[in-house]
Amino acid sequence: MSNVPDARQQEQEQDERQESFRRLLRSLPVWDTELPHFDPAAAPDDPLPLFQQWLSDAARAGTPEPHTMSLATVGATGRPSVRTVMLHDADERGWHFATHRTSRKGRELAARPEAALGFYWPAVGRQVRIQGTVTAADAAESRADLGKRSPGALAAALVGHQSEELSSYAELERASEAAWERARREPDAPVDSWTLYVLAADEVEFFQGDARRRHVRLVYRRTGPGSWTTGLLWP
Ligand SMILES: Cc1cc2nc3c(=O)[nH]c(=O)nc-3n(C[C@H](O)[C@H](O)[C@H](O)COP(=O)(O)O)c2cc1C
Repeated sequence: MSNVPDARQQEQEQDERQESFRRLLRSLPVWDTELPHFDPAAAPDDPLPLFQQWLSDAARAGTPEPHTMSLATVGATGRPSVRTVMLHDADERGWHFATHRTSRKGRELAARPEAALGFYWPAVGRQVRIQGTVTAADAAESRADLGKRSPGALAAALVGHQSEELSSYAELERASEAAWERARREPDAPVDSWTLYVLAADEVEFFQGDARRRHVRLVYRRTGPGSWTTGLLWP
């Protein structure tokens, strides 16, 4: 008798895997901790201080890497794409992040300078969504931003070729080895494609999860420079 599973056996195993995956999804808890209360009536007129407060709260509540965010851009055909990037700052100009201008997201932003950001901080049951127009900072500011980052961030940036096809992992290992070596020797090494971007928000939404699913959604909409209206949304 052969040990090779027949088609029916494979199908049965696949069904079992699928069922166990679904059971896992249904068993995962959400918002089973004490969540903070958020009173939208007490929210500031500008979304920035509230965002800074919420990120600090998330960090204090033990959210790992609360400064990571999803960045969604739009391609030439109108298809969205999303990935995770680090938040470098949030100030009156907007939300700052950095990447290679030549990467997929960099090319998409050059063609269509609009994007959306998403933060989720499970320890406090909070989500923030931001959308707006993206501007690339100049070379000097982009270089200064990279200069403030870790040697690992510089080495990663020096590797370059982001979003290009990679023929083998060994090729990356060789390039990375050389990049780490250069980052050690030359901590100010320039990376021409590395660009700081600033997203100037026209809409920012704060979502506070509630155990009874009476979530609070407060949306800020920009009406002019430095002026916003706010409203509540059904969850
Ligand atoms: C936690 C985390 C943080 C990341 N931060 C950045 C970042 O700040 N900049 C960046 O270019 N890529 C960052 N990446 C990698 C991106 O998610 C993505 O893989 C890369 O930028 C290529 O995206 P693209 O092909 O859509 O341009 C990060 C990934 C993770 C998981």
